[in-house]
Amino acid sequence: MLICIPQVLSKAQVAACRARMEAVNWIDGKVTAGEQSAAVKQNSQLPENSPLATEIGHLILDTLAQTPQFISAALPAKIFPPLFNRYEHGGHFGLHVDNAIRHVPGTIVRIRTDLSCTLFFSEPEEYEGGELIIEDNYGAQAVKLAAGDLVLYPSTSLHRVESVTVGARICSFFWLQSMVRDDGERTLLYDLDQNIQSLAVTLGLNHPQVLQLSGHYHNLIRRWAEV
Ligand code: NI
Repeated sequence: MLICIPQVLSKAQVAACRARMEAVNWIDGKVTAGEQSAAVKQNSQLPENSPLATEIGHLILDTLAQTPQFISAALPAKIFPPLFNRYEHGGHFGLHVDNAIRHVPGTIVRIRTDLSCTLFFSEPEEYEGGELIIEDNYGAQAVKLAAGDLVLYPSTSLHRVESVTVGARICSFFWLQSMVRDDGERTLLYDLDQNIQSLAVTLGLNHPQVLQLSGHYHNLIRRWAEV
């Protein structure tokens, strides 16, 4: 399941982050790539654990913790500290699959990458190319979102980033381990939850059938979630 969540960060937050990013050094993006992906990756990144990456990473994670659609879609157990990349001058990232397990640097924490996230810091009209192409069950999907928007997709998908021929594409990217490992089960839970939320608006949270459906949702979570 591929889900786009609009306006995770406001335009003002994006602008403030961008101004700070312009003032620091970026390094070769191959540092966080595995062997196969390093061969096809051409971009730059903010150094991991740099004060700025840590600060903006916290802003993103704090905001996502208060974004109901993200919680419903991801059911996050552990989230990797966000990384930041910039594609320009023909930079691209060829077809690859993300590593299944990620070590959080400087800790003993390991994360199974169930979902991959990209949060856009550049507006689509600021650059040419740079589409994130994700191959899922329904074919290849091209994603290029407004600044502040986030896309969430299964880490099992092969994906690539098209060459950026004009301008620069700046994004944050990170992975998460979900409490529900299976994408099909997670998709069912998301659809059920979204429908319960809209029924609750029209019928009220205490309507008997809404309560029954909420019970089914939580019982499925009990059945499928690992915490
Ligand atoms: Ni990737």
